[in-house]
Amino acid sequence: MLDLKQQPSHPLVAASILSADFGDMAADCRRVLGMGADLLHVDVMDGHFAPNLTMGADMIRGVRRHLPDVYLDVHLMVERPQDYVEAFAAAGANQFAFHVEVCDTQLAKDAGGIDGHALIERIHGLGMEAGIVVNPPTPVETLEPYLDAVDLVLVMSVNPGWSGQSFMPEVLGKTRWVADRVGPSTRIEMDGGLSPATVGRAVAAGADTLVTASALFGSDDPQSVIDTFHACPLAR
Ligand code: DX5
Ligand code: ZN
Repeated sequence: MLDLKQQPSHPLVAASILSADFGDMAADCRRVLGMGADLLHVDVMDGHFAPNLTMGADMIRGVRRHLPDVYLDVHLMVERPQDYVEAFAAAGANQFAFHVEVCDTQLAKDAGGIDGHALIERIHGLGMEAGIVVNPPTPVETLEPYLDAVDLVLVMSVNPGWSGQSFMPEVLGKTRWVADRVGPSTRIEMDGGLSPATVGRAVAAGADTLVTASALFGSDDPQSVIDTFHACPLAR
């Protein structure tokens, strides 16, 4: 099992199963893992926080059953992540990443935000790593209270919803902001629109964990996509 607390020697490829073959999921995951993808990224959407419905604990359990050793990085684009901590831990998730937009920040206050620190404690208490995620329109400073508590910070480079959207270069300053503030055991992830054409900028800004869905699973040459991601020189 990958140790995400260990600073990697090359950027990690997090293959997002949102673009995998849902009818042949385990085989499609095995295919990219066999080519060197480092972990799987599981995009959970509830149709409220993000305008799409995707997958939940049953998918995590199914993938875990077929791939007992793979690191499962679960990204919750949901309004109420607190409702899923126990179920996702039991299903075999390794990382439970939730959005800062649903926390008790100034931004979420009117919407009845949740206590992010208490949630992080629950995640850790169940043996998972905890991640905090920030959407493109959200100020990066909202992450500040959580930086010391989390294991991963995810900077979104598209608005959550679908695979295949265009990379938003205007968020790169946020990645650098995070890289200037977290230690070597905290992973910095980017998600959305990453491809051989855009990945270099993400890594140069300080990202070390790179989510890819359409550019990987939709490629005629997924091996070269993985190799290109791995070859970017880390900048942190
Ligand atoms: C965006 C999801 C992403 C998505 C990335 O809503 O959080 O993980 O699957 O897809 P690509 O790599 O195609 O932009
Ligand atoms: Zn994601």
